[in-house]
Amino acid sequence: MSRAFSLVRLLVAALTLGAGGWISLALLSASEAMPWRAAIIATGALLAWLMWRLRRPMKEAAALAQMADQTGDGDTAAIVRTPEIIEIAAGLARARASFRNRAEELVRRVTAAEGILEALPDPVLLLDRDRRVVRANTAARDLLGVDPTGNDLAGFLRAPAVLDAARAVLTDGQTREIAYRVEVPVERHFGVRIAPIAGASEDKGPRAVVRLVDLTAVKRAEEMRADFAANASHELKTPLSAIIGFIETLRGPARDDVKAQERFLGMMAAQAERMARLVNDLLALSSIELVEHAPPTMAVALGPIARSTAQALEMRASARRMRIEVSVEDGLPPVSGDAEQLAQLTQNLLDNAIKYGAEGTEIALHLSLTSVPAGMSGAGKAVALSVTDHGDGIPPEHIPRLTERFYRVDSARSREAGGTGLGLAIVKHILGRHRGYLTIDSAVGVGSTFTVYLPAKAET
Ligand SMILES: Nc1ncnc2c1ncn2[C@@H]1O[C@H](COP(=O)(O)OP(=O)(O)OP(=O)(O)O)[C@@H](O)[C@H]1O
Ligand SMILES: [Mg+2]
Repeated sequence: MSRAFSLVRLLVAALTLGAGGWISLALLSASEAMPWRAAIIATGALLAWLMWRLRRPMKEAAALAQMADQTGDGDTAAIVRTPEIIEIAAGLARARASFRNRAEELVRRVTAAEGILEALPDPVLLLDRDRRVVRANTAARDLLGVDPTGNDLAGFLRAPAVLDAARAVLTDGQTREIAYRVEVPVERHFGVRIAPIAGASEDKGPRAVVRLVDLTAVKRAEEMRADFAANASHELKTPLSAIIGFIETLRGPARDDVKAQERFLGMMAAQAERMARLVNDLLALSSIELVEHAPPTMAVALGPIARSTAQALEMRASARRMRIEVSVEDGLPPVSGDAEQLAQLTQNLLDNAIKYGAEGTEIALHLSLTSVPAGMSGAGKAVALSVTDHGDGIPPEHIPRLTERFYRVDSARSREAGGTGLGLAIVKHILGRHRGYLTIDSAVGVGSTFTVYLPAKAET
């Protein structure tokens, strides 16, 4: 613009001078009279003077135009001298500085908003007035498997309730919350909150924000809690019903039958023992959970624990003609642990090997020093405690669920063997507290090896 202005200015000056010159020359040649000549010369001089006076304001105006064009850049002091112009120039420079500050502030705010949006763990989408996505954060792109930007929400969110709610929010500006379930690749539950954006412009900018909160873990915990209550009461109800039945028999048909009374009392004692075991296991589980956040710090040698636990179970093993072979690697370092809990862990694993191993087979309890296995947190060395049995083995589809409370491959068989289905859940929580790790290797028809890894205690 300033360049164009300068050219126009030059053109006008040239034309004015040229025209003035030509007119003066024409008049001079046309007039012979001295007074006229003097008047013409005076007019020419006046014109020249006027041009000279006009030159500076025009130059200043051009400089101002150039300044405005560049929003105040450049040194105009050399050209501008009039106080008004100097003031205007200073004003322009201030306006420019203020605009620059605001622009920088705006960039900072937009960058921060973008950063916050990206850092949010929840999927977030911004919608325009036509329900098209103007922005989707990484969590949203990961969830949807595509970048939905520029597309209608309906193109990738096949949930009529969510789509209707989005349309309604864009129409009446009222926030809405609905549930949304994704089924593939794994089932996930979300709470969807769609809220209008306050002060949104009428153009194609964002008008509503869609936030998906992953409720899968909460839902699962709720299901587990319900399952747990149902399982625990079922496990208690079964022996309780049996005991009530025996009492009725003892009071009725077996009232005078001493032999039958003896038999029924024996069965009642077994059922009561089973209930007591279940209550003990439940109490053990909850007491471990209570301290699970606080890892134990005592140095515990696993060798003696393994030996004494195996010895305590010797009778039960020999009742099934089984033998527990304990082998402890030399120079095994201690682990940071709770001796009582580690004894319980070892007992639960040996108990399973006795229950589910084949009669007359050998059980191997082996302790060794290894590297921390892949999947376990921490680095350095770990003490591995493994229990190997020879029995039916476990079909692979059951292995990931074995540490769930009350989960059993064959419930009837476990119950028959006096199991409550809590042994491996207890193992899992003890390991959780010890920051340990469990692996299960099993082959159907061959047997199983359960190995727990515990971080070796660093020497102090
Ligand atoms: N060594 C093993 N061989 C084959 N199956 C096993 C073995 N250990 C555990 N299981 C399977 O895992 C299930 C869960 O084991 P867990 O120790 O938690 O419960 P349980 O032995 O049934 O009862 P509890 O230990 O409370 O007395 C068992 O019911 C059994 O089906
Ligand atoms: Mg068990």
